[in-house]
Amino acid sequence: MSSTAQTTTGFAERYQSILVPVIFEPWARELIRRADPQAGEHILDLGCGTGVVTRQVAALNLPLGSLTSVDHSQEMLDVARRLSKDSGLNAEWIQADASALPFKNEMFELAFCQQALQFFPDRPAALHELHRVLKPDGRVVCCVQGALDVNPMLLAQAKALDEFVGPTAGDAVRAICSLPDAHTLRDLFEEAGFHKVRVEPVTLDLQHPDARAFAVGAMGGMHTGDKLSGLAQANIDGATDAFLTGLGPCFDGIGMQFPHLSHVVQART
Ligand SMILES: C[S@@+](CC[C@H](N)C(=O)[O-])C[C@H]1O[C@@H](n2cnc3c(N)ncnc32)[C@H](O)[C@@H]1O
Repeated sequence: MSSTAQTTTGFAERYQSILVPVIFEPWARELIRRADPQAGEHILDLGCGTGVVTRQVAALNLPLGSLTSVDHSQEMLDVARRLSKDSGLNAEWIQADASALPFKNEMFELAFCQQALQFFPDRPAALHELHRVLKPDGRVVCCVQGALDVNPMLLAQAKALDEFVGPTAGDAVRAICSLPDAHTLRDLFEEAGFHKVRVEPVTLDLQHPDARAFAVGAMGGMHTGDKLSGLAQANIDGATDAFLTGLGPCFDGIGMQFPHLSHVVQART
């Protein structure tokens, strides 16, 4: 038997099957409730990943003007396209960088950007682009992960990766929490030209019935890539055990329940 773990599923498929139901579906519900999409609107999902926000908007069954989703990762878009084909969803999936959107000015009434702004290498350019492609009085609803030390599930992951994968492996988790400050967020949106910028800390209580299964899927299914395949099985087991221990009171011996804090930004052009 090989001494390294074999993965049969790509990280985007794991992101979709493990992380999306636990983390990103609940956030999508929260953002869509706040955005209140209307019939006839042209809607953009920026940094769409495997398309969870897009699918939930489509599930509203409104006669939308259009539904357009952008990501720079081909692998994430491949999963999104497969799922939308399976369900007959009518969205346009476009591979592009957030800082150079391939759209004319003033195309959309509403844009979502769920847990993606913190990863854009040029955040000001991305928000200027977002502002440019929104119509006058268009609205954006965005969420961005809060600080690592107030997100116990991510803190446990970062420590486990540092210890068992490599001294900088936890940086993939720190990147998720790399835009934790509400004032910085407000400034970024205002400097891009947005008005009525509201930044609100929101905590969702999230859970998974099998914390061990989640651990392997989560560390192998980050959108920044699989952190586990290629490791010796002993290190995968070590990272998993360290994650479960690091969860502290969020782990009940089988399942996990944890607070997940993000800032929700709502603004208008
Ligand atoms: C944590 S995922 C969130 C995806 C999705 N919004 C969700 O809620 O599941 C972050 C996404 O941002 C995308 N992304 C990162 N940098 C980007 C860029 N410069 N332009 C477009 N997409 C980018 C990644 O490929 C990834 O799919």
